[in-house]
Amino acid sequence: MTESPARLAVFASGGGSNLGAISDHLTELGRAAPARIALVLSDRVDAGALGRARVRAVPAVWLPRERATEMAGVLEKHGITHIALAGYLRLVPADVVRAFRGRLLNVHPALLPAFGGAGMYGRRVHEAVLRAGARVSGATVHFVDERYDEGAIIAQWPVPVLGNDTAEALAARVLAAEHLVYPRCVAATCSGAISLGDDGRVQGGPPYEFDRFVPDPPRHPFAG
Ligand code: GRF
Repeated sequence: MTESPARLAVFASGGGSNLGAISDHLTELGRAAPARIALVLSDRVDAGALGRARVRAVPAVWLPRERATEMAGVLEKHGITHIALAGYLRLVPADVVRAFRGRLLNVHPALLPAFGGAGMYGRRVHEAVLRAGARVSGATVHFVDERYDEGAIIAQWPVPVLGNDTAEALAARVLAAEHLVYPRCVAATCSGAISLGDDGRVQGGPPYEFDRFVPDPPRHPFAG
């Protein structure tokens, strides 16, 4: 009997471009796709991600912060097996984090453990990178545990920080890397190729067929 594909929930508070990238990647995988998106959940009734779900005829649920206690029930109702946070700005209730240990992922727009932790999201991350004078930033995909932005790292991809970068320009460059790295990590985790060991370490390593694609290869800063 073929393994039935994982049932993935994507949590998003914003526009949902990572939702779109994950959806597109799973579509590209066709019948080989190890997951299907079975639910999009947002804490914001006006989140663009909910609109993207509806366009894709995927169940879209608004769950405001004050009803977060209902989250486990919503996930059970939709038979969810894996969760990808994609710009979800709320803490996931501890009972859900525990129940989905090793099956709950997040993408962060910097190279953790740097520039992470409570309050570090969106534009603030890129402003902090620029303020620090960092020469490299990038995307981090990690498992989610009870400590904010501190779960085991699955994969990272670097992007250059250019001398004249604004927070917007850097955000766009990092987002392009996210759109390539995150979907492949989500698919590899749903297929079981990547997992979280009992020792808290990632098993299976990053899905680095990255030699097959290089997002926006960094221009060498010292190119003549
Ligand atoms: C991304 O930058 C991601 O790193 C962060 O939130 C943003 C989500 O963007 N967690 P989008 O809603 O997927 O476009």
